[in-house]
Amino acid sequence: MHWYGENRRELPWRMTKNPYMIWVSEIILQQTRVAQGYDYFLRFVERFPDVETLALAGEDEVMKHWQGLGYYSRARNLHAAARQIVAMGGFPEDYAGVRSLKGVGDYTAAAICSIAYDLPHAVVDGNVYRVVARLLGVSTPIDSTQGKHEFAALADALLDRSHPGEYNQAIMDFGALVCTPQSPRCGECPLACRCVAKAEGRVSLLPVKQHKTKTTNRYFNYIYVRAGAHTFINKRTGNDIWRNLYEFPLVETDREVGEEEFYSLPQLRAMVADGEQPVFRLLSRGVKHVLSHRIIYANFYEALLPEDTRSFASFQRIRQEELDGFPVSRLVSLFLEKKH
Ligand code: ADE
Repeated sequence: MHWYGENRRELPWRMTKNPYMIWVSEIILQQTRVAQGYDYFLRFVERFPDVETLALAGEDEVMKHWQGLGYYSRARNLHAAARQIVAMGGFPEDYAGVRSLKGVGDYTAAAICSIAYDLPHAVVDGNVYRVVARLLGVSTPIDSTQGKHEFAALADALLDRSHPGEYNQAIMDFGALVCTPQSPRCGECPLACRCVAKAEGRVSLLPVKQHKTKTTNRYFNYIYVRAGAHTFINKRTGNDIWRNLYEFPLVETDREVGEEEFYSLPQLRAMVADGEQPVFRLLSRGVKHVLSHRIIYANFYEALLPEDTRSFASFQRIRQEELDGFPVSRLVSLFLEKKH
């Protein structure tokens, strides 16, 4: 707590006890570093300054404000929960009520309740696992059932019950700034003399994870149609991370497919109307997009067609200058920025 007093990061959501602001900041900061989430937070709360405004907003606009942050289910849940909160008659004020909101798990409920309401709930996030594992020399895997229980109990025992919100943010900042995953700053650490991992030379070995996440590859071929002033897009459905984002007509393959082979793929031919002959051109090849569990390799093709084409009939036809108004993945927005 003393260290935090001198080293805390001054962040916009730290100047308020407004549960809405704290909730939004905590959802943004799930899987996102403070440096990356900062500007998103400011833009988000400027457009949606309270829960009523967010509840009334349209889905596409909410997604647009999230564009580029990734893990889009956070935005969909935030929006759904805003409607839940308005229906409840206001922001819930106890742990059970906060925990019942869509997209709010144990971590987020503890963060909101401790920071906004001074309720004694310890947060357990990646920082806490790391700091506790090292300080106390705990080698139980953090992704095991036993580990989850053990670390939750230790975090609870360590919690400063008279300042739970300050304490939770202190341990998270400490994990983010001193007790970092790689090259921790043990030389500046105020806890170094009682750190078990340091004494035993095990700092770089903790915390322990039992499962390494496996990455899989996916191969996307996007078709940027230019039919006069028009193009075609599609809203992704299904249950993946890009659900409800828009994209160009897509042919996914199970391996990297070269240009000539691509032009004769049946999935592509099926999108083109009988008797039409689009003029294809490869615009970007092998664009590598790294996500947490997968790597996407994307090719972007242009397909020139007449304004009144009958091809791509199952897609949504829009004017090219309208593209900017649709929420898209970072992979697609980077392409749009560079395509000219
Ligand atoms: N990471 C997520 N929420 C945080 C917070 N309130 N303070 C510091 N780091 C965080």
